[in-house]
Amino acid sequence: MEATNKEVIFTRPHKTLYATEDKIIKVFDNRYTKADVLNEARNEALVELNTDLNVPSLVSVEETSEGWCLVRDKVEGKTLQQLMDEEPEKLETYMEMFVDLQLQIHKQKVPTIKRLRHKLMDQINSLKDLDATARYELATRLESMPKHTKLCHGDFNPTNVIIDKYNKMWVIDWAHAAQGNASADAAMTYLLFSLENHDRAELYMKLFCEKSDTARQYVNRWLPIVAAAQLTKKKEKEKEFLMRWIDVVEYQ
Ligand SMILES: Nc1ncnc2c1ncn2[C@@H]1O[C@H](COP(=O)(O)OP(=O)(O)OP(=O)(O)O)[C@@H](O)[C@H]1O
Ligand SMILES: [Mg+2]
Repeated sequence: MEATNKEVIFTRPHKTLYATEDKIIKVFDNRYTKADVLNEARNEALVELNTDLNVPSLVSVEETSEGWCLVRDKVEGKTLQQLMDEEPEKLETYMEMFVDLQLQIHKQKVPTIKRLRHKLMDQINSLKDLDATARYELATRLESMPKHTKLCHGDFNPTNVIIDKYNKMWVIDWAHAAQGNASADAAMTYLLFSLENHDRAELYMKLFCEKSDTARQYVNRWLPIVAAAQLTKKKEKEKEFLMRWIDVVEYQ
């Protein structure tokens, strides 16, 4: 990959994405362990193999001078985020497409992918920003929630959906995928919207509940749990907001 002509398309702390003519190279720096990168690769490979979703094919996993990297096929198109920003008058249409796609993901089964409730429990227990009482409260709530085995993307937001010129929707970025309760996945998406834009968050929640015939209160019961999961990502500017959502009393 080193010798190929490539341009930077996206930089994040600890991650750089390059594009070649037909491939995307996602490079992780040494804050990510080899195991993290292989886990993301494994999730992508499992989803590609076990579902009928459009997922750009994983081509290779390599160590380069910049760090470990994943190489995927490139999809020519725009993310749903770009389309929502560029055409605000079509927001509702795009949000419907987004929710329909998430419901299609929730119909899939990937039997060997990790369990969402195990992942969430580990995340809750790792949070040293919360005292033992708050962690116990969250763990008890998680334990009481119905246990399902639906495929959950775990970071389903409009930057992770690409629309190609045939209007086909592609889903990328399966690092946080797991099998579990679809309402937990919806709660995470609502949280991700809420961190950026209140109106879009409300529109999303309304459409998800209508289309999946789910009570909003049921999704709400997951909010403190997914807020705790998001807190493990240690984004300083989100901390105060997330701590408010974790205050479980508000969502009883
Ligand atoms: N296969 C692909 N084809 C076209 N564009 C892509 C592809 N993979 C990624 N991109 C572009 O790069 C952006 C970032 O990619 P990706 O979602 O994999 O990383 P990330 O958002 O940094 O990961 P995370 O959400 O874990 O922080 C996407 O929003 C998209 O614009
Ligand atoms: Mg992404």
